[in-house]
Parts: sequence; C-alpha cells; structure tokens
Amino acid sequence: MQIEAKALTPMMKQYLEIKQECTDALLLYRLGDFYELFFDDAVTAAKILDITLTCRNKNSDDPVPLCGVPYHSVEPYITKLLEAGKKVAICDQIENPAESKGVVKRAITQILTPGAIASSEHLSAKKNNYIACVYEKKGQFAFSLADLSTGFFSLAVTSLAEELLDVLSHYEPQEFLLSDQASERLLSLLKPVFSKALFSTTASRNFNSAGVKPFISDELEAELEEIAFDTAGALHRYLTELQKAPLKHIEAFQSLSLQDHMLLDLATKQNLELTTTLREGKHEGSLLWLLDKTSSAMGARLLRSWIVQPLLSRKKIEERLDIVEAFMSSGEFLRKVKNVFEQVYDLERITTKVLLESAHARDLLALADTLALVPELKKLFSEEGGALKKLAEEMSSFPELVEKVKESLLDEPSLSLRDGFIMRDGISPELDELRSLARDGKKMIAAIEAEERAKTGIHSLKIKYNKVFGYFLEVTHAHTEKIPAHYIRKQTLVNAERYITEELKILEEKVLGAEDKMKALEYQLFVQLRTWAAQYGVHVFSLARLLAKADVLLSFALVSLEKAYTRPVFSQATDLHFEQSRHPVVESICEERFVPNDVHLSEKDGNCLLITGPNMAGKSTLMRQVALMALMAQIGCFVPARHAKLGIVDRIFTRIGASDALWKGHSTFMVEMSEMAHILKKATEKSLIIVDEIGRGTSTFDGLSLAWALAEDLHDRIKARTLFATHYHELIELAESKAHMRNFHIAVKESEGGVVFLRTLLPGGASHSYGIEVASLAGIPLHITQKAKKVMKQLEARTAAANDQKHTPPQLSFFEPDLRHKDIVEELAQLNPNQLTPLEALQFLSQMKGKISEKA
Ligand SMILES: Nc1ncnc2c1ncn2[C@@H]1O[C@H](COP(=O)(O)OP(=O)(O)OP(=O)(O)O)[C@@H](O)[C@H]1O
Ligand SMILES: [Mg+2]
Repeated sequence: MQIEAKALTPMMKQYLEIKQECTDALLLYRLGDFYELFFDDAVTAAKILDITLTCRNKNSDDPVPLCGVPYHSVEPYITKLLEAGKKVAICDQIENPAESKGVVKRAITQILTPGAIASSEHLSAKKNNYIACVYEKKGQFAFSLADLSTGFFSLAVTSLAEELLDVLSHYEPQEFLLSDQASERLLSLLKPVFSKALFSTTASRNFNSAGVKPFISDELEAELEEIAFDTAGALHRYLTELQKAPLKHIEAFQSLSLQDHMLLDLATKQNLELTTTLREGKHEGSLLWLLDKTSSAMGARLLRSWIVQPLLSRKKIEERLDIVEAFMSSGEFLRKVKNVFEQVYDLERITTKVLLESAHARDLLALADTLALVPELKKLFSEEGGALKKLAEEMSSFPELVEKVKESLLDEPSLSLRDGFIMRDGISPELDELRSLARDGKKMIAAIEAEERAKTGIHSLKIKYNKVFGYFLEVTHAHTEKIPAHYIRKQTLVNAERYITEELKILEEKVLGAEDKMKALEYQLFVQLRTWAAQYGVHVFSLARLLAKADVLLSFALVSLEKAYTRPVFSQATDLHFEQSRHPVVESICEERFVPNDVHLSEKDGNCLLITGPNMAGKSTLMRQVALMALMAQIGCFVPARHAKLGIVDRIFTRIGASDALWKGHSTFMVEMSEMAHILKKATEKSLIIVDEIGRGTSTFDGLSLAWALAEDLHDRIKARTLFATHYHELIELAESKAHMRNFHIAVKESEGGVVFLRTLLPGGASHSYGIEVASLAGIPLHITQKAKKVMKQLEARTAAANDQKHTPPQLSFFEPDLRHKDIVEELAQLNPNQLTPLEALQFLSQMKGKISEKA
C-alpha cells in the first residue's frame, strides 16, 4: 500500500496511522453512521461480506477502494469476517463529534480473532469455539486448548505428531497461536490440516509459565511436563491481552488426559461420518445429527465432543448407560424431564458473560430462570432413584441467587444497560425517588400543555420532545397570530412552528436531570447485582456441566426409545456379538426396509471376516454399521440391535473408499496405502479394523497381491477384530486356509429382471460381482452394458484357455515363482562374487542375459 502523504486528507492520515497498529487485522473504521474499510481490507471484506466495493476519489489518479457497513447492524458482519478466519479491529470515535475541533479522535477499542471470542453473539450455539496454542521442544509437542466463551482451558503433551493432529482435529480450532520461532516442521504439520484456521504468533519469550502458576494444581503439575505450562502461559497471556481484562471465568487448567479416550484418527472420524457426511460435508446424515435430541446448547456442544471421544473405561461407560436406562424407565417420565430441559438456557456462556462483566439484564434473568428449574429436576430425579438419584445429589440449586435476581430486575428489562428500565421499584429508595420525580415532571409537562391550550385558545397545541430541542410547543401556522409574546420561536416546519418557554425549560431540566440520574443509578445497581452474582460463577459452572451431561444422556434415551435400541453388554474377552444389528443412520434415512444382520467376531466364530458380494449388496454399510455400533456403545448410548455384546475396543480403524486427500499432495492410492500402514503400525488385539476394498486404485495384480498380503498380516500378526471387504474373489481361498478368518457374503438373488439384493450376511464367499447389472441399474445405456458383457465373455474365455495350457489355477499363478528360470537361479545361488574379477563378473552377467533372452 503506497500512498503519497501530500495527497491525503487529515482523516485518511489518521486512518493510516491507526492501521499501522493492526496490520494483520481488517480495520473497521467508524465514519458517521458507518464502519468503513479501505484499500486491501476493503477488497478482502467486500468479497467475504458480499457487499459492494466502491471507490473514494474515483476520478483521481489513486482511487481508494472502499466498502462499509452500517454501525447499528455491524455485529453479523463481524461474525462473518471471523468465520472466514479473519482478525478484526474495531476503531471507534472516542470523542463527541459535536465538540471536536478538526478530525474526530479515534482509536481501536476492540480486537476480535476467530479463536478468541467470548460473546455468544458471534458464535454458533451448538459448537465450541477453540483456540489452540502449540509448542514444540526437544521432540515433544505441548498444546493448550481454550474456549473463551465457556471457560474451558486444557493442556496435554505428546511426543507423537499423529496424536497431536488427531486430538486437535477433534476440537477443530479456529485459530492457532504459535511461537514466532516455530519450526518449519510444526508449520508444515499443522497448516495443511487446519487450512481454514487463522495462524497467529507471539514472541517465543512468552512461552513460560510465570503468569499462570495459580491455575496449576499440584496433581496437574505432577502429571504434565513443564513445556505444557509454557504453552498455557503464552495462550493465557494472549487471550488476556485481547480481552483487555482478567479472564475471571478460567478457574483452573485441566489435563486433556489422552489415555482416557479412544483416539480416533481423522480418516476414521470422516469415514464413519461422525459429525459431517463424507461426500457433502453436511450435518444431516451424520451420527451427530441422528443422536442430537439435546434441548440445550450446552448439551449439543458436549454431545459433539463425546462422539469423537469414546470412553475406554467400562466403569465410566456403564455409569452413562445406567443413567440412559433410568431415563427410559417410562415414556411419560422422559417427556416430563424433556419438558424441563427445554427451558434450560446456555448456563456456560451466560456465566462466562457474568464473570467477564458483559452480561446484560436479560442474561441474568435467563440465569435465574434456569437455576429455578433445578429443584424440580432434583425432585424428578430423586423420585426415580438409582443412577438418577445420585445425579440429583450432585446438583446444587442457588435459591438466594434466583430470588435476588428476580426481585431486583424487571420482568422485561430493556436491552441496553444505559437506558434505564432495568430495576424494579422498591429495591433502592434513591431510585424510587428519582423515578417519582421524573414521573411527576412528566405529569407537570402534561399540565402545562393543558394550561397553554386554555390560555391561548389553540386546541391543537402540543408539547413534544426531541433530542435536539428537548421539550417544545408545536403550533400549526393557522394559529400563528394567537402566539403570546413570551413564546420563543425555535424552528419553522412546513405547516407548524416550534416554540419554547422559560417555564417549560425549567421543568425540562428537572425531568431530564432526574431521568439521567435515574439511568445512571440503574446502571450502577445492575453492575452491583452482576458483581454479586459473579461470586457463584464456579459453582454455576459445575452445575452447567452436570446439566449438559444429563441433557446428552437424555438425548440418548430419547433416540434409543424411539428407535428401539438395546443396551450394550460389555465382556472381558476381545469378541463382538451383534444380533439383528442395523446401521443407525441408513435405517433412519433409506427408503427400503432395513434388513438387520448378525455379526459375530470371536475366537470360535473367527475374528476376521472376509466379506465378498456384488456391488450394491451392502458390504460397506454393514462394516460401517459394526464400527458405529461399537462407538455408540462406548460413548454410553444404546445400540440398534436386538442384542449386543462386546469387549471394549481400544481403537477403531477404518480404511474406506477413496478419500480425497489431495491437499496433502498425495494421490488416492498413496493415501490408501499410508492409511493402511498407519493401521498396521498402531492396531492391537483389542482394536476393531474395517478395511473396505483395499488395493482398488492400482492394477489388478498389484491390488490383489497387496490385498492378499495385507489380509494375511492382519490375521496372523495383529489378531484384531477385523472386517475385510473385497471384490477380489481370489481371497476366498486365503480365508479358507486361515484359522480365524471366515468367508461371508451378502446374498443376492438372480431373477429375470436382474439381481435382487437380499441384504443378508451369510457364510461362504460370493462368486460374482454383478458389476454390469448394477451399472445398468444406475442408468448406463444398454449399448454399453451389452458391449461390456461381450468384452467380459471374451476375457473369461481367454483366461480359461490360458489356464488350460498351464494347468494351474488362474488366481494363484502370480503368487508362485516363475519356474522357467530355475537353472539361472541355481547358478546364481552358487556364485561367490568375492572370488570373481570384475571382468569375470561382467562376462557372467552377459551370459545370464543371453539365457533369459532365449527363454523369453
Ligand atoms: N441391510 C440393509 N438393508 C437395507 N438397505 C441396505 C442394507 N445395506 C445396504 N443397504 C442399501 O444399499 C446401498 C448400497 O450399500 P453399500 O454401499 O454398502 O454396498 P456395497 O456392497 O459396499 O457396494 P460396492 O461394492 O459397490 O461398494 C446402501 O446405500 C443402502 O441404501
Ligand atoms: Mg462398498
């Protein structure tokens, strides 16, 4: 941005000076009734906000790009900019334009970044908004995660880059804070995966724990290395500076305890469509969409985090299931509880606002209204007994807080805190007095109106009020002659004149003075009330977390009852038995009746199923279904089956379809293989592995050979519960020869009209793929499918002839050594290269080459 100083107006000079303070942010510069953006900021913002980009000094040599938004509705625009990953600086007028000489003084009053938002108006209610601070030192990665709107602040350390990415991707941080000396390695690790996030930096010297010692408990100190507290220190400082106030709502840091949860890698989270669908990235059709019947925003946020962090402790899972089961005791009870939860406000975010001193009167009322529900909930829960009684005992209600807020605030207080109409009568004698003064003053003004009408005989005379003149008398031109001499004319309108009188002005001072004082006092009283309420902050946060948990479990109960799910049973063994199981999402949205299936994985039944079957049969659906059910069981939800029993799964791995990872600079096949390599490295006997059509993205022989070797290794070495779907029917033979591998297929029936999909999983392998039939179902024109059939017949005939010649089974031929070169191999085996001169070696080589050419 090169601008010649001489050409600048004083205002533009001021703009550029202020812009220097925030070169990395979009500057919204208040100009009259608008916030304006100039130069590159304008170009960027106009595109994001979809508003018109215009020009200042259009006809000059250097027109300045410009766009603007009205000041009174700026909030949604700011939200949009933040959502687009931009940092936003707000520059306001800090003196009254009417009193200023020259350019009005302006200054940056607020800086907002996508990851550091405390106020809920810029946030989606059902999603947390995280900022992550990552630091790398001596091969260790430490990271802190915070949600400024809820007071969440957690830390962890790992030495594994993959683990770092997997955990961070659950939280989807909107912003990263890194050291200004962060390594290239760290940047190249994070930037491709979190391409939408804003990357901010802070000086590396800020990475120290000096300022955050009070937040670190002894247990946390014992659990984590110092480097974790260094990141926490940097993040806490960054947030405090942006907020320009102490972060009173962050009480103590928590450990993320990576060992308590099942770690789901990014691919699995996407493949199982946990929070968004694979193809369109939509919420609808995801597991979250299906399970979310939460009533409160806090519940919805918690559910989202539970879904990507299944539990590993049987005790903790059973605790959740106990509560779900208790909720399901009767439909009527469930409805009653749901009714109460429908009235629960976002306690977490409201309490944050109270602690950060940004809560309005209506926030305090929402807080009180929610707290007022607690006694009713406790009663309902206690009466139900068991797990719910325990939950009720953990919940505190705060009757004194409810009472004080309710008796202090009006039922519908004004939205602004500075305009009065917030507090009730009777809570402050001083306020009551001011109110009556203001009220009486108004009555007296009305009396003057009546009196003047009588004195002048002008019946249409009115006393009105505006901000410029205060109170004035308005008389239409028709009566101008009747105006008494002591009326002072202030303004002439088209059909009326406006006057003031001395008497009116004296009264006005009294009324307006009382009103101003009243507003100021109401504000003061409100702030006192808010500060008093803030002392309950920590306790209300604990209650909020309990309510959120209950809301999620209530949601599980609602879905489970509606869809007839069953409580999963956990065993010590590494087995899995699902009877009459269904895919939770497909059964809810597919048009045909969903056919349930039995799946058994155990020592006795075989823990590795090789699933063949035609295209469209339902292989992928079945495999995903098994993975989703295991996951649902371990987040504490009932599952879609008649009976479900399983040993705790330590990790779920999926290798499914061609996920598009071009951003990584990898080809489809490369991604497929690196995901498989990851599974082979990480899976244990307790894992659940889903492999769907591995090896498709390369030539048939390469693909088949790889699939064969991979399936074998999964069976022989990993020994995890495994489902392996393939179109390579040659693998059926492999399964027959392995102790714990079983062939299964999904049945179809051939009929005159084509194939009928039965959707039933049956023992044994399948022989046909019916690819051409499925293609014609999909609408591929007849002449093409007919041609394909012809080509297939020719290919089959050719393969059969070749097989006859060699007398070897076709599918195994490429796994056996080529016998034609047996003599050459033997000669090579006997050779000792150390005894050869270079010349002899060369001669030998040339002889060998000759022999090979003869045989070819
Ligand atoms: N058990 C079932 N009951 C009813 N419909 C089902 C069932 N399983 C699958 N389907 C339906 O069949 C469709 C195809 O299933 P799926 O994608 O699992 O087939 P596939 O065997 O993996 O096919 P391909 O070999 O082409 O990958 C699904 O979209 C679903 O609508
Ligand atoms: Mg499939």
